[in-house]
Amino acid sequence: MKKLIFFFCIFSGLAAFLGAQENPGLKPILNHYAARNFTAGSISRGDLDLIVQAGIRAPSANNRQPWHFTVVQNADLAKRIVPNVTEGNVLIVVSAAGDGSANVRQILDCALATESIYLAAQALGYGSRIYTGPIDALNRSLKSDLGLPNGYSAVALVRVGRVQAPADAVSAASSRNAAGSMVTYK
Ligand SMILES: Cc1cc2nc3c(=O)[nH]c(=O)nc-3n(C[C@H](O)[C@H](O)[C@H](O)COP(=O)(O)O)c2cc1C
Repeated sequence: MKKLIFFFCIFSGLAAFLGAQENPGLKPILNHYAARNFTAGSISRGDLDLIVQAGIRAPSANNRQPWHFTVVQNADLAKRIVPNVTEGNVLIVVSAAGDGSANVRQILDCALATESIYLAAQALGYGSRIYTGPIDALNRSLKSDLGLPNGYSAVALVRVGRVQAPADAVSAASSRNAAGSMVTYK
Protein backbone atom coordinates (compact mmCIF):
# COMPACT_ATOMS: atom_id res chain seq x y z
CA MET A 1 0.00 0.00 0.00
CA LYS A 2 2.84 2.38 0.94
CA LYS A 3 4.47 1.67 -2.41
CA LEU A 4 1.21 2.45 -4.21
CA ILE A 5 0.89 5.81 -2.42
CA PHE A 6 4.54 6.58 -3.20
CA PHE A 7 4.08 5.94 -6.92
CA PHE A 8 0.80 7.88 -6.91
CA CYS A 9 2.58 10.90 -5.40
CA ILE A 10 5.42 10.69 -7.96
CA PHE A 11 2.92 10.32 -10.80
CA SER A 12 0.66 13.16 -9.70
CA GLY A 13 3.70 15.41 -9.09
CA LEU A 14 4.98 14.67 -12.59
CA ALA A 15 1.54 15.17 -14.12
CA ALA A 16 1.17 18.51 -12.31
CA PHE A 17 4.63 19.56 -13.54
CA LEU A 18 3.90 18.60 -17.14
CA GLY A 19 0.48 20.28 -16.99
CA ALA A 20 1.99 23.44 -15.51
CA GLN A 21 4.43 23.59 -18.41
CA GLU A 22 1.47 24.44 -20.61
CA ASN A 23 0.28 27.19 -18.27
CA PRO A 24 1.21 30.44 -20.06
CA GLY A 25 2.30 32.16 -16.86
CA LEU A 26 4.40 29.25 -15.59
CA LYS A 27 5.82 28.16 -18.92
CA PRO A 28 8.75 30.60 -19.07
CA ILE A 29 9.52 29.98 -15.40
CA LEU A 30 9.59 26.18 -15.70
CA ASN A 31 11.11 25.93 -19.17
CA HIS A 32 13.92 28.50 -19.19
CA TYR A 33 17.53 27.61 -19.85
CA ALA A 34 20.79 29.54 -20.03
CA ALA A 35 21.54 29.88 -23.74
CA ARG A 36 24.96 28.69 -24.89
CA ASN A 37 24.73 28.87 -28.66
CA PHE A 38 23.60 32.27 -29.82
CA THR A 39 23.07 32.95 -33.50
CA ALA A 40 23.63 36.29 -35.23
CA GLY A 41 20.67 38.61 -35.51
CA SER A 42 19.28 41.77 -34.04
CA ILE A 43 16.73 42.47 -31.32
CA SER A 44 14.06 45.07 -32.03
CA ARG A 45 13.93 48.20 -29.91
CA GLY A 46 10.32 47.36 -28.99
CA ASP A 47 11.38 43.98 -27.60
CA LEU A 48 14.30 45.55 -25.72
CA ASP A 49 11.91 48.05 -24.15
CA LEU A 50 9.61 45.20 -23.06
CA ILE A 51 12.52 43.20 -21.64
CA VAL A 52 13.74 46.20 -19.64
CA GLN A 53 10.16 46.84 -18.45
CA ALA A 54 10.22 43.35 -16.94
CA GLY A 55 13.24 44.43 -14.87
CA ILE A 56 11.58 47.68 -13.87
CA ARG A 57 8.47 45.74 -12.74
CA ALA A 58 10.47 43.45 -10.42
CA PRO A 59 9.62 43.62 -6.71
CA SER A 60 12.11 45.25 -4.32
CA ALA A 61 12.40 45.69 -0.55
CA ASN A 62 10.21 48.66 0.49
CA ASN A 63 9.76 49.24 -3.24
CA ARG A 64 13.12 51.05 -3.24
CA GLN A 65 13.87 50.06 -6.85
CA PRO A 66 17.61 50.52 -6.28
CA TRP A 67 18.65 49.52 -9.79
CA HIS A 68 19.81 51.10 -12.99
CA PHE A 69 19.70 49.27 -16.33
CA THR A 70 22.34 49.88 -18.98
CA VAL A 71 21.43 48.42 -22.36
CA VAL A 72 24.66 47.77 -24.27
CA GLN A 73 23.94 47.52 -28.00
CA ASN A 74 27.36 48.73 -29.16
CA ALA A 75 29.23 45.63 -30.39
CA ASP A 76 32.73 46.87 -29.44
CA LEU A 77 31.66 47.76 -25.94
CA ALA A 78 29.78 44.47 -25.53
CA LYS A 79 32.92 42.55 -26.65
CA ARG A 80 34.99 44.26 -23.98
CA ILE A 81 32.59 42.91 -21.35
CA VAL A 82 31.82 39.42 -22.76
CA PRO A 83 34.53 38.65 -25.34
CA ASN A 84 32.60 35.89 -27.13
CA VAL A 85 29.39 37.84 -27.80
CA THR A 86 27.67 37.00 -31.07
CA GLU A 87 26.69 39.69 -33.56
CA GLY A 88 23.44 41.34 -32.48
CA ASN A 89 23.72 40.27 -28.83
CA VAL A 90 22.68 42.91 -26.32
CA LEU A 91 23.98 43.04 -22.75
CA ILE A 92 21.73 44.48 -20.07
CA VAL A 93 23.82 45.50 -17.07
CA VAL A 94 22.01 45.80 -13.73
CA SER A 95 23.74 48.18 -11.33
CA ALA A 96 23.00 49.76 -7.96
CA ALA A 97 24.49 52.42 -5.71
CA GLY A 98 27.57 51.30 -3.77
CA ASP A 99 30.48 49.01 -4.48
CA GLY A 100 28.31 46.12 -5.63
CA SER A 101 28.76 43.99 -2.53
CA ALA A 102 27.72 45.93 0.55
CA ASN A 103 23.95 45.64 0.83
CA VAL A 104 22.35 42.19 0.78
CA ARG A 105 18.83 43.52 0.24
CA GLN A 106 19.97 45.63 -2.68
CA ILE A 107 21.71 42.65 -4.26
CA LEU A 108 18.58 40.56 -3.79
CA ASP A 109 16.49 43.31 -5.45
CA CYS A 110 18.91 43.43 -8.38
CA ALA A 111 18.88 39.64 -8.61
CA LEU A 112 15.09 39.67 -8.96
CA ALA A 113 15.26 42.30 -11.69
CA THR A 114 17.99 40.28 -13.41
CA GLU A 115 15.84 37.13 -13.33
CA SER A 116 12.83 39.02 -14.70
CA ILE A 117 14.92 40.34 -17.60
CA TYR A 118 16.33 36.85 -18.25
CA LEU A 119 12.84 35.27 -18.28
CA ALA A 120 11.20 38.07 -20.30
CA ALA A 121 13.79 37.68 -23.06
CA GLN A 122 13.02 33.96 -23.31
CA ALA A 123 9.27 34.57 -23.18
CA LEU A 124 9.74 36.74 -26.29
CA GLY A 125 11.60 33.92 -28.06
CA TYR A 126 15.19 35.08 -27.51
CA GLY A 127 18.00 33.25 -25.78
CA SER A 128 19.35 34.75 -22.57
CA ARG A 129 22.05 34.04 -20.01
CA ILE A 130 22.89 35.68 -16.70
CA TYR A 131 26.56 36.56 -16.07
CA THR A 132 28.40 37.64 -12.95
CA GLY A 133 31.86 36.46 -14.11
CA PRO A 134 32.71 39.71 -15.96
CA ILE A 135 31.32 42.02 -13.24
CA ASP A 136 34.53 42.65 -11.23
CA ALA A 137 36.50 43.60 -14.36
CA LEU A 138 33.61 45.77 -15.54
CA ASN A 139 33.51 47.62 -12.22
CA ARG A 140 37.29 48.09 -12.27
CA SER A 141 37.62 49.58 -15.73
CA LEU A 142 34.42 50.05 -17.72
CA LYS A 143 32.05 52.01 -15.49
CA SER A 144 32.65 55.35 -17.20
CA ASP A 145 32.56 53.88 -20.73
CA LEU A 146 29.17 52.40 -19.82
CA GLY A 147 28.01 55.65 -18.27
CA LEU A 148 26.89 54.02 -15.02
CA PRO A 149 25.32 56.60 -12.68
CA ASN A 150 27.80 58.19 -10.27
CA GLY A 151 28.61 55.89 -7.36
CA TYR A 152 26.91 52.86 -8.92
CA SER A 153 28.46 49.43 -9.47
CA ALA A 154 27.30 46.59 -11.68
CA VAL A 155 25.80 43.57 -9.90
CA ALA A 156 24.98 41.25 -12.82
CA LEU A 157 24.28 41.34 -16.54
CA VAL A 158 21.99 39.48 -18.88
CA ARG A 159 23.11 38.57 -22.37
CA VAL A 160 20.20 38.50 -24.82
CA GLY A 161 20.31 37.31 -28.39
CA ARG A 162 18.90 35.19 -31.11
CA VAL A 163 18.98 31.40 -30.78
CA GLN A 164 18.06 28.68 -33.19
CA ALA A 165 14.28 28.31 -32.97
CA PRO A 166 12.36 26.47 -31.73
CA ALA A 167 14.55 26.01 -28.67
CA ASP A 168 13.86 22.87 -26.69
CA ALA A 169 14.20 24.48 -23.31
CA VAL A 170 13.58 21.37 -21.22
CA SER A 171 16.30 19.27 -22.78
CA ALA A 172 18.63 22.26 -23.22
CA ALA A 173 18.72 23.04 -19.51
CA SER A 174 21.10 21.26 -17.16
CA SER A 175 19.40 18.90 -14.74
CA ARG A 176 18.29 20.15 -11.33
CA ASN A 177 18.54 18.32 -8.03
CA ALA A 178 15.50 16.26 -7.07
CA ALA A 179 12.84 18.14 -5.10
CA GLY A 180 13.00 15.45 -2.40
CA SER A 181 16.60 16.41 -1.60
CA MET A 182 15.92 20.10 -1.00
CA VAL A 183 12.25 20.72 -0.25
CA THR A 184 10.60 20.13 3.11
CA TYR A 185 6.86 20.29 3.64
CA LYS A 186 5.77 20.62 7.27
C1 LIG B 1 24.01 34.56 -10.50
C2 LIG B 1 24.41 33.83 -11.77
C3 LIG B 1 25.66 34.07 -12.31
C4 LIG B 1 26.05 33.43 -13.49
N1 LIG B 1 27.26 33.74 -14.06
C5 LIG B 1 27.62 33.15 -15.21
C6 LIG B 1 28.86 33.50 -15.82
O1 LIG B 1 29.61 34.33 -15.35
N2 LIG B 1 29.20 32.85 -16.98
C7 LIG B 1 28.37 31.93 -17.55
O2 LIG B 1 28.73 31.38 -18.61
N3 LIG B 1 27.17 31.59 -17.00
C8 LIG B 1 26.78 32.18 -15.85
N4 LIG B 1 25.57 31.88 -15.27
C9 LIG B 1 24.68 30.89 -15.93
C10 LIG B 1 24.59 29.59 -15.14
O3 LIG B 1 25.79 28.86 -15.30
C11 LIG B 1 23.36 28.80 -15.59
O4 LIG B 1 22.23 29.59 -15.31
C12 LIG B 1 23.23 27.47 -14.89
O5 LIG B 1 24.35 26.66 -15.17
C13 LIG B 1 21.98 26.71 -15.32
O6 LIG B 1 22.06 26.45 -16.69
P1 LIG B 1 20.77 25.91 -17.49
O7 LIG B 1 19.71 26.95 -17.36
O8 LIG B 1 21.24 25.73 -18.90
O9 LIG B 1 20.36 24.65 -16.86
C14 LIG B 1 25.17 32.51 -14.12
C15 LIG B 1 23.90 32.29 -13.56
C16 LIG B 1 23.53 32.95 -12.41
C17 LIG B 1 22.14 32.72 -11.85
